[in-house]
Amino acid sequence: MSLILPFFVLFTLFLLCTTTLAQTPAPAPAGPTNITAVLEKAGQFTTLTRLLKATQMADQINTQLNNSNQGLTIFAPTDNAFASLKSGTLNSLSDQQKVQLVQFHVLPNLYSTSQFQTVSNPLRTQAGNSGNGEFPLNVTTSGNNQVNISTGVNTATVANTIYTDSQLAVYQVDQVLLPLDIFGVQAPAPAPVTAATDLPSKAPSKSSDTTDDTGTSGAMPLNHNVVAAISLSFALLAAIALQL
Ligand SMILES: *[C@@H]1O[C@H](CO)[C@@H](O)[C@H](O)[C@H]1NC(C)=O
Ligand SMILES: *[C@@H]1O[C@H](CO)[C@@H](O)[C@H](O)[C@H]1NC(C)=O
Ligand SMILES: *[C@@H]1O[C@H](CO)[C@@H](O)[C@H](O)[C@H]1NC(C)=O
Ligand SMILES: *[C@@H]1O[C@H](CO)[C@@H](O)[C@H](O)[C@H]1NC(C)=O
Repeated sequence: MSLILPFFVLFTLFLLCTTTLAQTPAPAPAGPTNITAVLEKAGQFTTLTRLLKATQMADQINTQLNNSNQGLTIFAPTDNAFASLKSGTLNSLSDQQKVQLVQFHVLPNLYSTSQFQTVSNPLRTQAGNSGNGEFPLNVTTSGNNQVNISTGVNTATVANTIYTDSQLAVYQVDQVLLPLDIFGVQAPAPAPVTAATDLPSKAPSKSSDTTDDTGTSGAMPLNHNVVAAISLSFALLAAIALQL
């Protein structure tokens, strides 16, 4: 008798412990979003993945996803899209142009497909200025959820949503987005020697004013999205707080 009682106490304690341990939830398979892993899982993006790695943009995108809560939108051309480029197109680009080409497919904000309906064109990409002749990108939508992207050189259609979370949206596109700055017909350089020597400061300041204007108008709708994203984050935090 004197041995059985302690045994029962210990056994009950053991059962309590194991049930408590079993009830604690397994840690989430966390870790920051990895664009390479997202594309590998989706398949048919080997050329884009190679380009992302060669330009170091994969690391840069992953770092951005880990460090900021602003979000990114990526247009991902399929292997077929790259294959339908004129042969030698990628090889003819300089390293810097390859980086710009990849950056042109990345928007520094998270856009849902429904948000595309209200964006104001041209959109700013990570390639930089959206002024005419540089890196403008227009998104147009139609009633039946079709989303087109025009660059001034070509027009691609969003075929599919590959991935989306609170920070990143990846959309499959049927064509490589070709920026005007790299693939546009080169405008003749307006460099009249006399004007440059007569009025050295006036001409450059005028042209930089116009680029500033387009840059600002392009940035305005993005600010709305930041505000929307922040309010959404607060709403989520409030919801979580209520549940606790
Ligand atoms: C991202 O995923 C790729 C492919 O799965 C892997 O090779 C790479 O190491 C991952 N990078 C990080 C930072 O986890
Ligand atoms: C993500 O960011 C955290 C905090 O800044 C850092 O400790 C961690 O090493 C980063 N992870 C990766 C994979 O970059
Ligand atoms: C998108 O592009 C396709 C093919 O170029 C065209 O038929 C369609 O009308 C366009 N839709 C929108 C919303 O621009
Ligand atoms: C993009 O949109 C802007 C503003 O609506 C327009 O001026 C420009 O011509 C458009 N470019 C293309 C290639 O559709």
